[in-house]
Amino acid sequence: MSTALYPGTFDPITFGHLDILERALKLFDKIIITIAINPSKQPLFSMDERVDLIHKVLLERNIDKNVTVEGFEGLLVNFALKKNVHAIIRGLRAVSDFEYELQMALMNRRLADKVNTVFMMPHEKYTYLNSTIVKEVSKLGGDVSNFVPDVVKQALENKLS
Ligand code: COA
Repeated sequence: MSTALYPGTFDPITFGHLDILERALKLFDKIIITIAINPSKQPLFSMDERVDLIHKVLLERNIDKNVTVEGFEGLLVNFALKKNVHAIIRGLRAVSDFEYELQMALMNRRLADKVNTVFMMPHEKYTYLNSTIVKEVSKLGGDVSNFVPDVVKQALENKLS
């Protein structure tokens, strides 16, 4: 059974993340969404809230059998090795993502040679999307239903109102 990690901050999960996830499910039997800590970010949602939101979205999409969600602290490659998983999925939205992603992928490979990063491109309609912009639009009263599932939209409204 082939398994991959899909790491990120997921604050919150968007349709862009789900697009990558659904593409990755065509390549791997099982995906572990790994909510990791990016030390330079101050998330709006707690770890438990992000796990809970993702669970609800997976259930709604009926992909909860093949996808699990875990939060962790520490190095991503250590988590991968502990789980005996040797593939990390990352989305590349635009050329601007490339340098940062290359640096992370090479550092991760240096730390654990058998863990490889697999880059996937989301649908072009999501290339401009990120979690920060969605939070900003929601906070200012804009409609985010084209960018996030309903349950996330509701959670944003509750949090930001
Ligand atoms: N569609 C839409 N938006 C997307 C997307 C997609 N397919 N893929 C990523 N994004 C957005 C995210 O919403 C996020 O937006 P934000 O910056 O506004 O929050 C941004 O792109 C990038 O986020 P993400 O993919 O979540 O990466 P990240 O930079 O927040 O997280 C970690 C990187 C968590 C994977 C990395 O810090 C990590 O591995 N941490 C663990 C510690 C570690 O091992 N460090 C050493 C790394 S070499």
